[in-house]
Amino acid sequence: MKKVAVIWSSPNTDGLTASAKDRFIAGLTEAGVQTEEIHLNRKKIGHCMACGDGWGTCRSKGACVIQDDFAEIYRKLQEADGIVWVSAVYWWEMTECFKAFFDRLRRCEGFTNRFLEGKRCVLIACAGGTGRGVLDCLQQFERGLTHMGMRVYDRIPVERYNRDYMLPALAEAGKTYAERLETGFDMYY
Ligand SMILES: Cc1cc2nc3c(=O)[nH]c(=O)nc-3n(C[C@H](O)[C@H](O)[C@H](O)COP(=O)(O)O)c2cc1C
Repeated sequence: MKKVAVIWSSPNTDGLTASAKDRFIAGLTEAGVQTEEIHLNRKKIGHCMACGDGWGTCRSKGACVIQDDFAEIYRKLQEADGIVWVSAVYWWEMTECFKAFFDRLRRCEGFTNRFLEGKRCVLIACAGGTGRGVLDCLQQFERGLTHMGMRVYDRIPVERYNRDYMLPALAEAGKTYAERLETGFDMYY
């Protein structure tokens, strides 16, 4: 059975972001995939201290010196066959919780470890305000994932105004992603 990690961030457990995440998981579950949910707002994640002269053990050893929930989440991502990244859009970007995690992940992963290289991911950004910034947020994710050698299978913008048709589409997307994990991805890169 394939395993997918769904890592998400919003303080609201019943908002747009949570609904998007739940719909995607419903599709995965229907297709027989085991999911591991990681709610970043509930985790303890400190920010990168830029040790030494800007590089620390993240580069030399592929591990961060800060003792918090980072290492455990990093391990869960490694164990997953696929990763779904779901964030509320704040200031046209991923949430602060995500940024703190992402900053440290790319330092450990980008040079030394490459444990996540080649993983096929789905990106979901949820902009509940004007909808502005949803594409910038997706782009921010993709840039970071590309540095780490991950591959983006789809980039999904969810907004207050498109939720009526995007939420059902997310369940379908979850099912298709599950099938691709099983049978192979129809991607050129
Ligand atoms: C600090 C902050 C910044 C935000 N920035 C944006 C933004 O740039 N674009 C947008 O459409 N919505 C923005 N919003 C609204 C959030 O995207 C909205 O709350 C989002 O739907 C979060 O979903 P949820 O709280 O329902 O999970 C912002 C909200 C906060 C709290």
